[in-house]
Amino acid sequence: MAEQVSGQTNMEKLVSLCQRRGFIFPSSEIYGGLSSCWDYGPLGVELKQNVKQAWWRAIVRERDDMVGLDASILMHPKVWEASGHLEGFSDPLVECKSCHLRWRTDELKDNSCPSCGGEVTEPHLFNLMFKTFMGPIEEEANVVYLRPETAQGIFVNFQNVLNTTRKRLPFGIAQIGKAFRNEITTGNFIFRSREFEQMEIEYFVKPGTAEEWFDYWLEERCNWYVNLGIKKENLRLRPHTEEELAHYARKCSDIDFLFPMGWSELEGIANRGDFDLVQHAKYSGKSLSYLDKETNEHIVPYIIEPSAGVDRSVLAFLCDAYAEEPDKEEIRVLLHLHPDLAPIKVAVLPLSKRENLVKFAKEIYADLRPCWMAQYDDTQGIGRRYRRQDEIGTPFCVTIDFQSLEDNQVTIRERDSMNQIRLPIAELKNTLAAKLAGEELFVLPPGGQIWKEGGKD
Ligand code: GAP
Repeated sequence: MAEQVSGQTNMEKLVSLCQRRGFIFPSSEIYGGLSSCWDYGPLGVELKQNVKQAWWRAIVRERDDMVGLDASILMHPKVWEASGHLEGFSDPLVECKSCHLRWRTDELKDNSCPSCGGEVTEPHLFNLMFKTFMGPIEEEANVVYLRPETAQGIFVNFQNVLNTTRKRLPFGIAQIGKAFRNEITTGNFIFRSREFEQMEIEYFVKPGTAEEWFDYWLEERCNWYVNLGIKKENLRLRPHTEEELAHYARKCSDIDFLFPMGWSELEGIANRGDFDLVQHAKYSGKSLSYLDKETNEHIVPYIIEPSAGVDRSVLAFLCDAYAEEPDKEEIRVLLHLHPDLAPIKVAVLPLSKRENLVKFAKEIYADLRPCWMAQYDDTQGIGRRYRRQDEIGTPFCVTIDFQSLEDNQVTIRERDSMNQIRLPIAELKNTLAAKLAGEELFVLPPGGQIWKEGGKD
């Protein structure tokens, strides 16, 4: 269980910002919400898509040894027998005899109810898979399950992918998709919910090389988070003890993040050995082996599985991006989101609502929109508009003033430093592309100049 930590990003403030600015809402809110389900609003859906795209780009697009997959959520019921989920994917559940709240046994304090201290019942096993029925008749023979992990869709397609891509070991199959778990206790915002998304890699290796690939993926996955803005000091590796290893795992380590409620799992990396391919071969009667061309032998590859949560990643990125800074008499709230993750990349802001300026600014906005998620805003004072963009993490604002009508120049304001440069409109797109890719603001394009320095709007 997470230990309480002070001094971290305050969860209440983050939840409030997410609701106020349209990142994340409780599901079915007008009906009082549905416990532990969340809806991503206009900015949240952009942020979440950007997280998934960044993962897909790093894992699939930029690598030769990886291919993607999108398997269906409903799978043959035998899959869950073979995987061990029907028998083993359960939490021991107790109920408090006084307040009737239900708990996992690992959440109990001194074997009593964490809420009221009351006595609890004997534990019984509770399977976390959601059940439903295939077709119109609701009987046992038609039971299917909502997948509790995306991984199984990859294992059952191992031979299909092998046959169609001619990949040689080591290679991986990556998938992003929804997973469902009827969690006994939920909470901490989007950290633990009953419907969530996973980004999973199943990396197939020769058995003797599993250890080194396990270490490789630990490092690779930590670097991915850090490169996108997670603070190194807020990540740690937590190897699993023998007792807590999942039924399929030979070795496992969590990548923990220092969430507002304490250190908790962000991603799990497991050495699943040959468990899954052996099980599915046994239950399906199909061969799931690999012909090693060097030795001419059929082998069952071992699998290294880096399994990340999309929602937990979104929460971690928001936590480490959130900042409050003194701003005259007020506080400037900002999200230091990495440009790749920021929901809006650029805001176009005319200094006033005068017709000729608005027309000019809207033309620039129309020109930028095909390239990036952009926003146009001409309401209220410019200071207010900058603050609104800071709070949603927009890395750059383009400001159009009356002089722009004369000299065809605009300013670019950087979110984090509040510095500004002025440049010819003809240079705007190239310059924004360079800045979004990480170039220093004061590296100037032809005809550009430093406009404001020193962090005051
Ligand atoms: N295939 C392996 C697997 O599913 P897991 O540790 O149970 O392993 C992997 O889940 C990741 O999925 C976790 O590290 C977490 O990021 C995410 N995850 C798991 N349960 C979740 C839940 N109830 N709500 C949100 N994310 C969850």
